[in-house]
Amino acid sequence: MSGFSIHWLDLREPADVAARDKSLVNIALDWLGQREDPISPDRILVDLGAGTGSTLRALPDLGASNFVWRLVDVDGDLLDEALRRHGKQLLIEDYQADLTIVNELPLMGANIITASALFDLVSREFCDALIARISSRKTAFYAALNYDGNIQWSPSHPLDEKVLAAFNKDQMRDKGFGPALGPTATDYLKSTLQAAGYKIEIAPSPWQLGAGQQALIAELVAGIYNVIATNSDVDVDTLNEWKQFRLQHADSGNCTVGHWDLLALPQ
Ligand SMILES: C[S@@+](CC[C@H](N)C(=O)[O-])C[C@H]1O[C@@H](n2cnc3c(N)ncnc32)[C@H](O)[C@@H]1O
Repeated sequence: MSGFSIHWLDLREPADVAARDKSLVNIALDWLGQREDPISPDRILVDLGAGTGSTLRALPDLGASNFVWRLVDVDGDLLDEALRRHGKQLLIEDYQADLTIVNELPLMGANIITASALFDLVSREFCDALIARISSRKTAFYAALNYDGNIQWSPSHPLDEKVLAAFNKDQMRDKGFGPALGPTATDYLKSTLQAAGYKIEIAPSPWQLGAGQQALIAELVAGIYNVIATNSDVDVDTLNEWKQFRLQHADSGNCTVGHWDLLALPQ
């Protein structure tokens, strides 16, 4: 178990699918030669922190086909769920592995490394080690849905700014990789990959939450509340008021959560 429930991953997936920048995926598929030779079976995509397989659900709708989908996650239950959902239709290799042991990651023959909603959890050291490994082999790299530190609520509440500052501070807490990149993930990936010789494209991929997404908004509010209630100096009574206000407006208000997608192609 990694702490990421199937329930939470399922809840966020429609927002992720809508938010993911489609043009970067198109550029990646062109670079991989998927357009000229769509039936070649020998392209290997390694999805890090794959969860239940959100990437292999999202990319085929955008034109990806005939990949070997190599899913890597520390959580065996999530990988089992990915296999249960797709193992009979797609060529999946599942690896239960701790990403922090970078030298042992199953990257053999990979054409592209992908991830979604992962790189804000990881550290600089992890990125440096991973990029050193993939750049020597000129492997492409695509990281979607990296949180950027911006959350905007409508209607607003006087505590929003303070809550966001406390939440963003917590985003940089160690999540098992060393101090997390949190909102700095895209900038750090961009500069490190550029220095390693990659050509970088980035594009915004914000969650735009509103009517019909009450459950996701309520879970987001609860998640923010929980980390701040235990890890900040925000007054608990005021925080409770903020939570009640946010839950009252979960079905009628709007929320934007900033993310960025990044594609790095070897030159
Ligand atoms: C926010 S979830 C994203 C899952 C999936 N990519 C998605 O978009 O639905 C982060 C994923 O990273 C995995 N993870 C976290 N720490 C890990 C580690 N040290 N090694 C391998 N996987 C890890 C979790 O198990 C989880 O599946």
